[in-house]
Amino acid sequence: MGAGIAQVAARAGFAVIMRDVADEFLVRGVKAIDKSLQRDVDKERLNADEKGAIIARIKTTTDIGALSDAFIVVEAATEDLAIKTEIFRSLDKVTKPDAILASNTSSISITKLGAVTRRPDKTIGMHFMNPVPVMKLVEIIRGAATSDPTYEQVRSLTERLGKIPLDCQDSPGFVSNRVLMPMINEAIFALHEGVATRESIDGIMKLGMNHPMGPLALADFIGLDVCLAIMNVLHDGFGDSKYRPCPLLKRYVDAGWLGKKSGRGFYEY
Ligand code: CAA
Repeated sequence: MGAGIAQVAARAGFAVIMRDVADEFLVRGVKAIDKSLQRDVDKERLNADEKGAIIARIKTTTDIGALSDAFIVVEAATEDLAIKTEIFRSLDKVTKPDAILASNTSSISITKLGAVTRRPDKTIGMHFMNPVPVMKLVEIIRGAATSDPTYEQVRSLTERLGKIPLDCQDSPGFVSNRVLMPMINEAIFALHEGVATRESIDGIMKLGMNHPMGPLALADFIGLDVCLAIMNVLHDGFGDSKYRPCPLLKRYVDAGWLGKKSGRGFYEY
């Protein structure tokens, strides 16, 4: 998702620094951006020069210190509280004091991330949807201490990125995943209990509810590890057994069947 966010920001004319922990991830990210923009070149919605200019606006680095001049950082690391808090601590040290620190987290508390920095007022959630270049929504999450000016700046930035900001308070899973993930988890339970085949479950939701993808295909697309992490955040956060992750989801993650990214999930890729 980090590559998708870098792509939309560069396409909107911003200078972008894409930072990751190893070069191989940066190479993979730039390749994904190239492929995504090429779709638009092929459809004559972008010319080759414009595509080149967008890519030229994206610098890559493994050095977090390279973000020292950024006016905003959008963190899009693994959905893990310990990793994200570590990153926010480092960002707080290396960035300008007035820089906004945003997280693309799908469910982790923005209030907790803000609390490890000296700028909880400038910490906010900017939750993009996958695939980032296509999906219009950015869910904007205000932590307990997020200030009105930070919120206003991020809302207007989101619009400059060509996206639609919709805001909510900081609560487990926010709105998007509080509603989406229990549906996906329930579809996995239906498969687990032999209620229907994967094709029937997905077909029923596609044809019957007009969803572009069935819930099992969508889970593969999001990543089964991400789905499990989000279910755990909902389960822990609300303490309600209705959010218990399906054992089949746990088993697939244990097996390393993480969906599209690993070549196998509920479907084979
Ligand atoms: N980059 C750029 N463009 C892309 C793209 C990408 N990675 N993937 C698809 N597209 C474009 C295509 O070029 C095409 O554009 P046009 O119609 O303008 O020509 C359009 O998207 C549709 O693509 P396809 O025809 O190839 O395929 P499709 O019609 O099956 O659509 C899809 C693909 C957009 C992914 C669609 O299946 C869909 O909307 N799926 C649901 C996605 C969804 O629910 N996302 C949210 C997941 S939850 C999340 O992200 C948050 C979280 O916290 C877990």
